[in-house]
Amino acid sequence: MLIIRLIISLISLILSSNAFAEEIRNPVEHWASYPKISYPKGDKGEAIKRGEYLVMASDCIACHSTDAEHPFAGGNGVRPDIPLLGYRVPIGTFYSPNITPDKKTGIGNWTQKDFHNAIRHGVAPDGSQYYPALPYVWFTKFSDEEIDDMYEYFMAIPAVDRENKPHDIPFFMKWRELMLGWKLLFFYPFDGPYRPDPTRSEEWNRGAFLVEGPAHCGMCHTPITMFGSPQLDKSYTGSIIDGYAAPNITGTSLKKVSVDELIRVFKYDEVPGGGEVKGPMKEVNHDSLMYLKDSDLKAISVYLKTTVDSEPLVISGSGDAKGQAIYNKHCMNCHASGAGGAPKYGDANDWAPIQAQPVDQTYEHAIKGFHGMPAMGLCGECNDDDIKATVNYMLKAVSVTKSKPKRALGPAPKNYTLDDGKQLYEKVCASCHDDGALNAPKIGDEKAWKQRLTSQGFFGLLNGVVHPEGYKSLPNDCVPRGTCDDCSDGQLIAAVKYILYKSVKQNDFKLW
Ligand code: HEC
Ligand code: HEC
Ligand code: HEC
Ligand code: HEC
Repeated sequence: MLIIRLIISLISLILSSNAFAEEIRNPVEHWASYPKISYPKGDKGEAIKRGEYLVMASDCIACHSTDAEHPFAGGNGVRPDIPLLGYRVPIGTFYSPNITPDKKTGIGNWTQKDFHNAIRHGVAPDGSQYYPALPYVWFTKFSDEEIDDMYEYFMAIPAVDRENKPHDIPFFMKWRELMLGWKLLFFYPFDGPYRPDPTRSEEWNRGAFLVEGPAHCGMCHTPITMFGSPQLDKSYTGSIIDGYAAPNITGTSLKKVSVDELIRVFKYDEVPGGGEVKGPMKEVNHDSLMYLKDSDLKAISVYLKTTVDSEPLVISGSGDAKGQAIYNKHCMNCHASGAGGAPKYGDANDWAPIQAQPVDQTYEHAIKGFHGMPAMGLCGECNDDDIKATVNYMLKAVSVTKSKPKRALGPAPKNYTLDDGKQLYEKVCASCHDDGALNAPKIGDEKAWKQRLTSQGFFGLLNGVVHPEGYKSLPNDCVPRGTCDDCSDGQLIAAVKYILYKSVKQNDFKLW
């Protein structure tokens, strides 16, 4: 076992040695904006508009832009990793090329046929093979007409003069002909436009086309093999991307999530059961799904609900046996690695703040969802008791250390009164929370605070300011310790209570 670990560490080291040589921008959550286009009158203008919509549905902009001012000018690093004997091994950085119509550095000299070959077959104008980091495995589902429309769009956007960056990948992968072998094994079975299933509705077929084609949902949500190809028998059962867990989104798993709730995931970043979508999915929403028609979002949701998990959970046994079975099937994806800020299984630091809160609250968070924790851990087959058993199983893994949590968040010491809270508030917090600077929720804004309170709970709000050790910063958190590094936890808690006292009238936070 040790030898295997050693070999794998060595491989990772070699493969990733250059990956961190330069400073890497946060890989997600940088929305680019679509360029303004003056559509010519007539057929051409219509083609460009149709092409633009397909480009939006395909999220080409996310990979092919590094900043909002130069959409599609390339230079963005795509950093796939592959599973190897239980590890995620990075294989380097593929820099997206410039796909604006610049004649020198972009695709301005490409013919329609060149563009077809790239999108449908993954072949470059000089006949060499593209890496599947360009998602042709999915884009091959486009019809000829659709690819023509996209070509018209790319010829109409502003040209940007920016040279392509060479990929930062291991030497043996630089030989593109390797990809021919890869394609023979993994790609050609896909090759060809989407063929509608005549036994299904038009809506379902539209959804299937979008999910299996342009929107390439499976690139993130389907587990991959060690060769980087999707495991089709496990489609949509969940995978890991950029350190975030992309959860199981099969119909089996989403049984308790309605079509409307799914549309809200895409349109308003709302996680079913509460909380906000984060990371790569938020980028997908902002760069792509947000622009789609409601009818298309509905079609996507309707289709997704009909997909089936090939290995549905069979809940047998009780207590820890049941908890373990559910954990392995549904929770491990996120909690084994700590992906997306999930408290890592067995990690005493991560679980300290959770152990410090009443267990009923922990159950409730797991059942109803909380921040990045989806309701029921997306286990469509589970009921409340199943989730409680699983939470117990997870808590047991850290119960040994329960007596000594590291700086767990306790109640405010008695000597801090609401008046102390008020003083600290006026001295420190008011600079942002009085008038909403930096988008801080304003004191007295009942709606804003109630919403935070219901989605995160009282402890969630405290955590968002105090940041106890082992607790990871989340998108809606306050600036660390409200900028008051000298304040004790107790003082900060008193200030939060003061804010809530002023904002959410009917609750009595003095009791906490
Ligand atoms: C997941 C990231 C990703 C997405 C999404 C993506 N691309 Fe790319 N694309 C890449 C990468 C990486 C390459 C470089 C591939 C290589 O060098 O083999 C590439 C290459 C290309 C090329 C070849 C350009 C050249 O100069 O050789 C074209 C054209 C292209 N993409 C168009 C598109 C279009 C159109 C879309 C949307 C329909 C799209 N891409 C979506 C990552 C992406
Ligand atoms: C670039 C990778 C990526 C792509 C492409 C992608 N997703 Fe996701 N998706 C994620 C990640 C990561 C999460 C978890 C987000 C979080 O932790 O808040 C997620 C979450 C979700 C959720 C569940 C929200 C929740 O937490 O309950 C749904 C539903 C979903 N995606 C559907 C889709 C669909 C449908 C598509 C295609 C239209 C798609 N995704 C494409 C990465 C991706
Ligand atoms: C898609 C990823 C994901 C899956 C799947 C998932 N979790 Fe979580 N879970 C999280 C994240 C992220 C958090 C951290 C939430 C926070 O505190 O901000 C979390 C937090 C928790 C917590 C602590 C809640 C608290 O009070 O702070 C419990 C308990 C929990 N999860 C249980 C489960 C169980 C049980 C399952 C399986 C049925 C599960 N999780 C599946 C991502 C996930
Ligand atoms: C420099 C500006 C700034 C200062 C100073 C500041 N805050 Fe905040 N706070 C914010 C912003 C911005 C948010 C909202 C972040 C978001 O939603 O993305 C926030 C959010 C919060 C939240 C909600 C956290 C959550 O998880 O939803 C609480 C509670 C809070 N602040 C309390 C305080 C307290 C107490 C102080 C003083 C000790 C303080 N803040 C000082 C900017 C500030």
